[in-house]
Parts: sequence; structure tokens; C-alpha cells
Amino acid sequence: MLIRRVELKDAETLSALASKTFYDTFVGTCTEKDMEEFLYEYYNIEQVNSELSDANDYFYFAEVDGVAVGYIRFKEEYSNFEKMKQWKALELKRLYILKEFHGKGVAQALIDFYFQYAQENDYEMAWLGVWEYNFRAQKFYQKNGFEDTGEKHPFPIGSTPQTDIWYWKKLK
Ligand SMILES: CC(C)(COP(=O)(O)OP(=O)(O)OC[C@H]1O[C@@H](n2cnc3c(N)ncnc32)[C@H](O)[C@@H]1OP(=O)(O)O)[C@@H](O)C(=O)NCCC(=O)NCCS
Repeated sequence: MLIRRVELKDAETLSALASKTFYDTFVGTCTEKDMEEFLYEYYNIEQVNSELSDANDYFYFAEVDGVAVGYIRFKEEYSNFEKMKQWKALELKRLYILKEFHGKGVAQALIDFYFQYAQENDYEMAWLGVWEYNFRAQKFYQKNGFEDTGEKHPFPIGSTPQTDIWYWKKLK
């Protein structure tokens, strides 16, 4: 498996992988219309190009035999969770792996990479939001040392209300 930074030339691959993995994770939890609009709004090529053009927005693919089977996105971020401002904090913004590669160490390799980046760059706090009913992801984050902060925030998919829980892991 290879972990490599996603480049502008990979925008279409990222857009397709992000759409597919989001769809597979949340299908059935919102209306089809909400899903379609969400996928378009967040993963259209212009949007993906603009995120990839930001040098401080980190996207990495996990590739198996040259094919991207999962990706991670992380960024130094404080905007949605005021409390984070007291530390140097790195948000794990996304971690999505194709179904066929769940439980195979791909997610673990990507999150290990994220922790390594955080350590090398002196981050004090790791944090993320996870859907309150995404129990597999919660278990995965817990086994990687994250804890529920006890705080939640709305993360609607279009007109379908959903709630994410903030998780954190103190690094220092
Ligand atoms: C979340 C994700 C990154 C985790 O990667 P993974 O390779 O599946 O994780 P692992 O298999 O190492 O760990 C998952 C753990 O949850 C457990 N688990 C599986 N289904 C579960 C469920 N329904 N409820 C509780 N725990 C569950 C597994 O047994 C495993 O624990 P174990 O290692 O102690 O046996 C991956 O499943 C994924 O990409 N999911 C879809 C996208 C997603 O939800 N991303 C997170 C958005 S915040």
C-alpha cells in the first residue's frame, strides 16, 4: 500500500472516490434528493480543485496496486469548535475507505500517517466530528485513543437533520 498526497491532477479520482464512499456510508439515512445535492455541492470538480489548491489542506490517498482505495483529509482548523483554540489543533476532516477495504488496515495506515504528521508538526490536539450513529467509525476512533468530548453539532445532509459528536485526543 502506498500513501501519497493527492495532487490537482487527481481531482477527478478524488471526486469519484469521495462521492462513492460518502454515498455508501450514508445511503438510506437521508432522502435521495438530499444525497444527490450533497454529493454535488461538496464533491463537484470545481470544489475539489479549490480544496486541492490550498497548500494547508491535506489530502492523501491510500493506493493498492496503483488504485486509490481510501483517502484522508486533515487541516489545522478551529472554526467549528471554539474550544480547540486553546491548543494547536489538527482536525481530521475526513477518512473514507472503500467497503472492500474495511478492516484491512488501510484506515489504520492513514490515521497513523495523520498522527505522525501531527507529532512532527508539534500539534497538541487531534479532533474530529463523527455521526452519532456511525458506530463502526466511533469504535475505530476510540481504539485509536479518541474520546467523546460530550459535545455535538448539527451536520445536516440537505433537509435531513443529522448530528455529529466531537471527538478529541490530546497529543501532549
Ligand atoms: C470508519 C472507517 C474509516 C474505519 O476503518 P476500518 O478499516 O473499517 O476499521 P477497523 O476494522 O480497523 O475498526 C473498526 C472497528 O469497529 C468494529 N465494528 C464494526 N462494525 C461495528 C458496529 N456496527 N458497531 C460497533 N463496532 C463495530 C470492528 O469490529 C472494529 O473493531 P476491532 O478492531 O476491535 O474488531 C471505515 O470503516 C470507513 O471508511 N467507513 C466508511 C466511511 C466512514 O464512516 N468514515 C468516517 C467518517 S467520520
